[in-house]
Amino acid sequence: MKILFACSECSPFAASGGLADVAGSLPAALQKEGAECRVIMPLYGSIGLQWRANMTFLTSFGVPLSWRVAHCGVFTMQYGGVQYYFLDNEQYFKREGGIYGYFDEAERFAFFSKAVLETLTHIDYEPDVIHCNDWQTALIPVYLNVFYREVPKLSRTHTVFTIHNIQYQGQFGLDVAGDVCGLPDWAIGKVEFHGDLNMMKGALEECERISTVSPTYAKEILDPYFGHGLDEILRQKEWKLCGILNGIDTVGYNPSKDHALAANFSARKPEGKTLCKAALQQQMHLPEEPDTPILAMVSRLVSHKGFDLVRYAMENMLRMGMQVVILGSGEQQYEEFFHEMQRRHPRQVAFTCGFMPTLSRQIYAGADFFLMPSQSEPCGLAQMIALRYGAIPIVRSTGGLADSIIDWDTPGGGCGFTFQSYNADDMLGAVRRAMGLYHSEYRAEMLPRALKCDFSWRRSAKQYMAMYLGI
Ligand code: GLC
Repeated sequence: MKILFACSECSPFAASGGLADVAGSLPAALQKEGAECRVIMPLYGSIGLQWRANMTFLTSFGVPLSWRVAHCGVFTMQYGGVQYYFLDNEQYFKREGGIYGYFDEAERFAFFSKAVLETLTHIDYEPDVIHCNDWQTALIPVYLNVFYREVPKLSRTHTVFTIHNIQYQGQFGLDVAGDVCGLPDWAIGKVEFHGDLNMMKGALEECERISTVSPTYAKEILDPYFGHGLDEILRQKEWKLCGILNGIDTVGYNPSKDHALAANFSARKPEGKTLCKAALQQQMHLPEEPDTPILAMVSRLVSHKGFDLVRYAMENMLRMGMQVVILGSGEQQYEEFFHEMQRRHPRQVAFTCGFMPTLSRQIYAGADFFLMPSQSEPCGLAQMIALRYGAIPIVRSTGGLADSIIDWDTPGGGCGFTFQSYNADDMLGAVRRAMGLYHSEYRAEMLPRALKCDFSWRRSAKQYMAMYLGI
């Protein structure tokens, strides 16, 4: 079984969120299950020399896109046992700044999607399945059916589309469909949705299997509250939809080996966690008090992550006597709020604005609790990483949070604290329960249980294999 995993970001080369973690670890897990999985992604300007030095140039060609023919170079390299293809077009991908957020997003990722298919006509490789991820690759199944079925190599290629977050659909004005994406008039209906171009809708129609990143989210997105308009299409396509919970890279995220930490620790030797906590307090300029619980948040600061609840409840949380460490960037209103809280409570609040992978590990390792009150959460990886590093998750039971975190008070025992409604007082209740048990049960019960949790990819990789084989 040959799988080509197409994505707009992949760790360690270019990352902005959870998709990069998945793309950076699922392919290797699929290979362990017997697949041959390769990854294809854009060659962003930000991908540094340390990677480029190991890449080999394979070929280049022109990609027809509406009235343009855009250059595409293909570079390849092996990394961690997986083969990668990097598609190069400096006009689209060599930009100052982040990997997303430009005026011509539709054109950049229409180009990438077409270029993935064009690449397959130029190189000696024939995948059975192209596995597409999120709207940036959503035109691949559309282009494949509209333009490439006549190419013998691509006449039977299957497509799978994974929704990592249904909020981002690739919506643009409909005029873009022809002039920019190059779809002929007869095919525009495939991507048209309520008068707009909606790339994700095109993928949902044209691909052979839809998956999303947790079983609960797969059910939730059939409902208008979670579906962001696409629930209507998903209900029609439910026969090809499934939810497979993400895993995490348990080799990369390993507190017993992680060089970023002040000390290493594991279920058998948990002592190092105390040193990590002291190091974090020092680094964050918080009083070094071993018995004060630290509650951490590492997240993009956007509203669906639940920051309205945090804003409402913050003063009450601080009155419980905890220290709060936040790392993230995003909407200005939340950045300003956390700056302000830090100014008001310098001995209790430490806010770092940004996306910093090394610091995030130090925070997971130093924190006792990890708060994730998301309004919706397709899967969420941070709660699993937090557990692996011994920070007990406090989460709202939604999407993947509901599938990965069982409440402490459940008969049989869980490893986190959960609340159901999207309500700040309910969140406070869960935080209060957690804090109430901190002195009695954290060291003896919670920490050992957390450090033993298994969120490796093995089970999910088997489910993906079953999905590919079932097409
Ligand atoms: C998106 C989702 C997140 C998920 C990740 C990887 O970032 O918001 O919940 O864990 O994709 O699938």
